[in-house]
Formats: sequence, structure tokens, C-alpha cells
Amino acid sequence: MKRRTVLVAMAAAPLSAMLPLPAFAQKPIVLGFAQVGAESEWRTANTESIKSSAKDAGIDLKFSDAQQKQENQIKAIRSYIAQKVDVIAFSPVVETGWDTVLVEAKNAKIPVVLTDRAISSKDDTLYVTFIGSDFTEEGRKAGRWLVEKEKGNPGPVNIVELQGTVGSAPAIDRKKGFEEIIKSDPKFKIIRSQTGDFTRAKGKEVMEAFLKAEGKKINVLYAHNDDMAIGAIQAIEEAGMKPGKDIIIISVDGVKGAFEAMMAGKLNVSVECSPLLGPQLMSVVKDIKAGKSVPKRIVTQESIFPMEVAAKEFPNRKY
Ligand code: AHR
Repeated sequence: MKRRTVLVAMAAAPLSAMLPLPAFAQKPIVLGFAQVGAESEWRTANTESIKSSAKDAGIDLKFSDAQQKQENQIKAIRSYIAQKVDVIAFSPVVETGWDTVLVEAKNAKIPVVLTDRAISSKDDTLYVTFIGSDFTEEGRKAGRWLVEKEKGNPGPVNIVELQGTVGSAPAIDRKKGFEEIIKSDPKFKIIRSQTGDFTRAKGKEVMEAFLKAEGKKINVLYAHNDDMAIGAIQAIEEAGMKPGKDIIIISVDGVKGAFEAMMAGKLNVSVECSPLLGPQLMSVVKDIKAGKSVPKRIVTQESIFPMEVAAKEFPNRKY
């Protein structure tokens, strides 16, 4: 009896060695993700998209929240390098100052993917690809909408601008794209422009200051995101004015909060910027690990929603 058992084991050994490892025994890909923070409704949706897509894709996600501070993002990236993760992805809070840490990742042979925001660097070998929106085009869309809206109005059209985080790609590019369009007609004047750091609280605070300084001279508010616009709406109402009527409001993102404001007649238009980047990121991470080549730039497809279509579109909104 004993002898038979030994013979079976000996015969089985070479066969099992020839079989591929069962799926459950394969090591999952480890992705280190350094998020900007939780500054807006958009960012919350973006974080949720990344976390749920990683789970669906069977990717082991290590996630950190930098609370809008570059030094925290750099620390997180360094810790992912030390942990020898398979891929690092991050949404850079500002455009500059990344070369040193990205060279460290490159030397450690860890591929880097940029999501949502770009960096400004002479060395484009520091990252594999950049997945995200065309922020300049978003600014242009906002500008084109305003030019069309103000057709026939001799002006002046006095605009106040709530910029996003200083030095961030969306703040730089949304400003640039908007100005590129409105400069075609000198009746458009940006009379005040200041950062509201992409948050509701700061958007409200800065709008209060704009109203104090310029009062009824303000015709238009251009906010680089919906959250700042929503904060500013509160400030306008508290000043006894009607947002969306006394002051035309243009913002960017297309989050549910903006749709609610549009349906209430308080926000005129929101340019879409999709935060749902998780599925694309996971598929790129898998391609990189499989040695496939990926495009250097993956642009998100987006639309624009004026208040007139808000009620019809609202049920389709996913964030
Ligand atoms: O980088 C995308 C921008 O960051 C979104 O427009 C804004 O809401 C977020 O905080």
C-alpha cells in the first residue's frame, strides 16, 4: 500500500511542473497612486473611479491623498519607489518640480503614468503616457459659449475670473484657452482674476471680495471649476443679486452639483471635464505590464452643458 502511494506521487510530479500556474496563484499588479487631494466634487468622483476600477481589474492599489501639497505627493511617490510597486500613477497638483523624483522612479525602472493633469518637463521619457482632458480646449469652449451669448451686445462685458490652484495645469490652460477666444473682441474685459484653489469655500471668499470691489459692474463670472462657482453663487445671493441672471456664470467640470445649480437657474453653463479616468488607467497599467506599447497622450472626450439642457441630461450624469 505504502509503495503504491510513492509511485503515484513520483508520476504526478513532472506533470504538475508542466502545467501553467492557476490564475489565483498569479501575483496581482501593484499600482501606487498619488492623488492631489479631496478639494472638489470632481476629485471625489475621480478617486472613486480609480478605487473601483482597480478593484474590478484585480489590481492591488496603494492610494495616498496629498491634501493639495506637492511635497506630500513627492513623499508618496518616493514611498512607492521604496515599496517597489509595479507602476506609479499620479495627478500632479502643479506642473513643475517633478523631474528629480521622476528620475528616481526611472532609475528604479518603475513606469509612471500621469492622469488628469500634465507636468511641464523637458524630458518626456520620465513618464509613459498622460491620460486626461484637454484643458485648453475646455477654456476655449467656455470662451466660445460666452462670445455667442453676448452676440449683439455692444459691451463692455466685465468678467471676473476664479482661477484654479496656482501653477496647476487646469488653471493655466483653462485661462489660456478662454483668453484666446475672448481676445477677438475688445468688449470682453477680465476686470479681476484670482485663485479660489478649486474649492467652494475659497470660491465664495474670493467672490465676496470681487463683489465688494466691483459690485454691479460685474457681468460675468468665469470659474475654473464648478465647486468655486457654487461657492460664488452663495456669495452673489448673499449680496442680494441673482446668480445666472444679474451675473452670468460659466464653469467647468459638469458635476451633479452644477447640474442642480443650472436646473435652479443659478448657473448658465458648465463645460464637461470627466473624472472617470479609472477604467482607462487600469487598462493602460495592464498594457504596460504586458509589454505592449501605449500612446503618449490619451485625451478624454467631453461635451458642454448649457442650463437649457440640464434637466434632460441630469438623469444620465454619473458624477
Ligand atoms: O484637474 C482637474 C480639476 O481639478 C477639476 O476641474 C477640479 O474640479 C479639480 O479639483
